[in-house]
Amino acid sequence: MRIGMIGSGYVGLVSGTCFAEFGHDVVCIDKNPAKITALKNGEIPIYEPGLDDLVAKQIKAGRLTFSTNIADGVSGMDAVFIAVGTPPRNGDDGADLSQVFDAARDIANAMTGYTVVVDKSTVPVGTARQVAKTIRATKNTTQFDVVSNPEFLREGNAITDFMRPDRVVVGTDSERAAEIMRAIYRPLYLNETPILITTPETAEIIKYAANAFLATKITFINEIARLCEVTGADVQEVSRGMGMDGRIGSKFLHAGPGYGGSCFPKDTKALAQTGRDLGAVQTVVESVIAANTQTKETLANRIIAELGGDLTDKTIGVLGVTFKPQTDDMRDAPSLTILPMLQAAGAKIVAFDPVGRETGQPLLPGVIFADQMYDVANNADAVVILTEWNEFRALDLDRLADAMRTPIMFDFRNIYKPAEMIHTPFTYHSIGRVKTTPVAPKLRQVGV
Ligand code: UGA
Repeated sequence: MRIGMIGSGYVGLVSGTCFAEFGHDVVCIDKNPAKITALKNGEIPIYEPGLDDLVAKQIKAGRLTFSTNIADGVSGMDAVFIAVGTPPRNGDDGADLSQVFDAARDIANAMTGYTVVVDKSTVPVGTARQVAKTIRATKNTTQFDVVSNPEFLREGNAITDFMRPDRVVVGTDSERAAEIMRAIYRPLYLNETPILITTPETAEIIKYAANAFLATKITFINEIARLCEVTGADVQEVSRGMGMDGRIGSKFLHAGPGYGGSCFPKDTKALAQTGRDLGAVQTVVESVIAANTQTKETLANRIIAELGGDLTDKTIGVLGVTFKPQTDDMRDAPSLTILPMLQAAGAKIVAFDPVGRETGQPLLPGVIFADQMYDVANNADAVVILTEWNEFRALDLDRLADAMRTPIMFDFRNIYKPAEMIHTPFTYHSIGRVKTTPVAPKLRQVGV
């Protein structure tokens, strides 16, 4: 199959490269000439494990090419994917679809025969029909079908998610378009991936409902964590006990500092806005959005209270600023709420992130970025873990504590265990579990 990919950002680049890996011929288009030149040279503008090797492999195989000329990605193609940004819209919580409609007009003008136009961008329900209308209004033709084919890629895991998805969702009223979509995804039949063919509206809602449900699961366990903290229960055990119920499932029940990233915050807001616009208010999702903001603020206030309220002359070391590991993405990262609140209380912040320094520094004015992870501990009054990078899972805790003014840790990803932390010098705070203090050094030596 011949595939055009309009938009070479995160979703477009991963999808285009993986389609090339399936054996299709893919042309990735972007309006930004610098980006296209870099991509042609195998330079990847985003941090995604494994993507650079795969791009280089597919360029070499001749199946992946890049262009700024939209016609290269449209004329003669079996399918043209729209994978442009849908950022938050000014004025309300909805998604700004201007890039999607610009792409639809560009595609209409460059189409040379029957073309399947596929929405891969995350777009509110009704957009596929509007894209069809836009194409018809631009060019008087019926030689096309519009399909909604949402993506379910996690940053940091995108290639595996693309190659081994739980399902592929294809929303279309056209059997001809469905047949082409089946042919595109045929390589996945080998691992028996279910392909769900629905209407465009259903496909569009599946995407938002899936993200909002996952955000709800996370927010739910974050609130239960608060209850655990005040009752002495352990949220990780609660998650395990809940997750063993097959109807609930154990995934996305890990309590933390609130969900972030480019998807959950934006998509929950857009879904809530659609509900309001269409008179089907999404009360649960509205509450999730408010509760997630509250989670981040509560954690910042907890640090401030534990350190005595006034943080003037206090230094706080921070491990991790990105919204999750394996990405340099800072969008809606909990650090963007928590660190300014600590600064406002007077704290000096020294942070380390394995890849997020470049993206994080401009968004966190006044935060000092350390070159080495142990540097955050120098004369620090507390260390806060905000992202569960692997590097932070096996810290030399004695070394960390020795460098600090007071060995206090706030582990907001629960990567350490309270039962083990009592044998270290740390006063240890985590999420949804009891605060622990060190057992007496003498007892520590005998391993009690
Ligand atoms: C999410 C979805 O998982 C993907 O399926 C979807 O395709 C993508 O959004 C999208 O719409 O494009 P992503 O934003 O990359 O992917 O990240 P996740 O791994 O889902 O994590 C989202 C947030 O939830 C992070 O802040 C993470 O730390 C947090 N999280 C996740 C928790 O706090 N607890 C959990 O148990 C899981």
